[in-house]
Amino acid sequence: MAEVHTYPDVVALARAAAELFVSIASEAVAARGRFTVALSGGSTPRPLHRELASDPFRDRVEWAKVHVFWGDERMVPPNHEMSNYRMARETLLDHVPVPPQNVHRIHGELDAVQAAARYADVLRDFFGSAGPPRLDLIFLGMGTDGHTASLFPGSALLKERRRWVAGVPCGQAVEVPRVTLTPVVLNAAANVAFLVKGAAKAGRLQEILAGSEKPRELPAQLVEPEDGRLVWLVDRAANPGRL
Ligand code: 6PG
Repeated sequence: MAEVHTYPDVVALARAAAELFVSIASEAVAARGRFTVALSGGSTPRPLHRELASDPFRDRVEWAKVHVFWGDERMVPPNHEMSNYRMARETLLDHVPVPPQNVHRIHGELDAVQAAARYADVLRDFFGSAGPPRLDLIFLGMGTDGHTASLFPGSALLKERRRWVAGVPCGQAVEVPRVTLTPVVLNAAANVAFLVKGAAKAGRLQEILAGSEKPRELPAQLVEPEDGRLVWLVDRAANPGRL
């Protein structure tokens, strides 16, 4: 059974996620002198970012030793309203002292293939090329269709076992092309935390966590870190007590 923690509301969920960020960051910095985290896109992470940018969490992180990556990005310029980088910059990075050189955004202004290749090079240069990059923490969201990052139902990327990063063309669920980490990197992480809120996701969450295994239809089911912790942080609206 997955590790699921349910919180009464979005603020409590955001604070729990901020506590997780702070505790993993402290451990990583103490052990390795740095903390590597991949942020998620969408709207759910906004309250988390605001908590991290505020007291008491802001002063509990050694931001100079934090390296920020992304789980996925939309192929739009970094100042576009759809940009996951812009959302993170506005809600978190403009408010904490992460050195600019520690912010490793996916270059949405490029085309998806170029941006994926460039991001894979960044990961290889940073983590080395021995094997898939092992991030200390990856935050993920879940769509109402069960997608996570930009891994959508039926995508060929759900079977990807070699590439770390891939482009995602436009399709029925993808209004703009995207770049995403593949399951190879997601499952190499030391910690993966899904943040899920809202009644609209309750049925899908139940299906993913308590239903049958059908990862090609429910990509979030693919996330099972080989040597890491997987935790679901959800609000009561998304889990009205059945999990
Ligand atoms: C994205 C995200 C995506 C998101 C889910 C949930 O770029 O959109 O990576 O996977 O996490 O779609 O989005 P919400 O948090 O907005 O519900």
